[in-house]
Amino acid sequence: MKFFVDTANLAQIKEAHDLGILDGVTTNPSLMAKEGIKGEAAINQHYKTICEMVNGDISAEVLSTDFESIIKEGQQLAALHPNIVVKVPMIKDGIKAIKWFTDHKIRTNCTLIFSAGQAILAAKAGATYVSPFIGRIDDSSWDGMELIAQMRQIFDVQGYSTEILAASIRSGLHIVKAAELGADVCTCPLDSILALLKHPLTDIGLAKFLEDAKKM
Ligand code: G3P
Repeated sequence: MKFFVDTANLAQIKEAHDLGILDGVTTNPSLMAKEGIKGEAAINQHYKTICEMVNGDISAEVLSTDFESIIKEGQQLAALHPNIVVKVPMIKDGIKAIKWFTDHKIRTNCTLIFSAGQAILAAKAGATYVSPFIGRIDDSSWDGMELIAQMRQIFDVQGYSTEILAASIRSGLHIVKAAELGADVCTCPLDSILALLKHPLTDIGLAKFLEDAKKM
């Protein structure tokens, strides 16, 4: 399973990258706004900076919702760097745009996926990635991981090459379950990645080893 970090914060991207296990970055308008990135020039520069920091796929989301504008915006984003993946929302014009991008060799990430039906449409349109929002499904009292399992089964049965990108990750357990169920990618807040490091028995065991090492 590939690890992406789900943030537009450069310090967090650097910290995740420095771990040596980072395969890419996902952003969205909320994450960009959180970093105070405003205006087209600043947005484009931020994406370029991320692309220079991480040698992997970098999702950059379109802000348009009609077909023509999504195409124009997506082409501009894709031209910023070869590693840019155009993130497109799961709407009717979004699916049409994903098919257009597929036909024109521009890679896409279909975002805001909450059902298997939506995932099937995105895969049929040729999306490179589909992003089911696990945490937000859990928030609505459904089990987000059930969707990952269902999508994995459908994609395998149907032979879809679209990668399942588990998004809206909220914990280390989400990452472990996504891996267990066969997600191709997990995009995570830095805290959730770092949570995987932690086990109290590791801390206790290391303290004992270091103590005993003084007697060596
Ligand atoms: O990648 C999508 C993700 O950023 C959404 O996460 O925590 O806002 O539901 P969250």
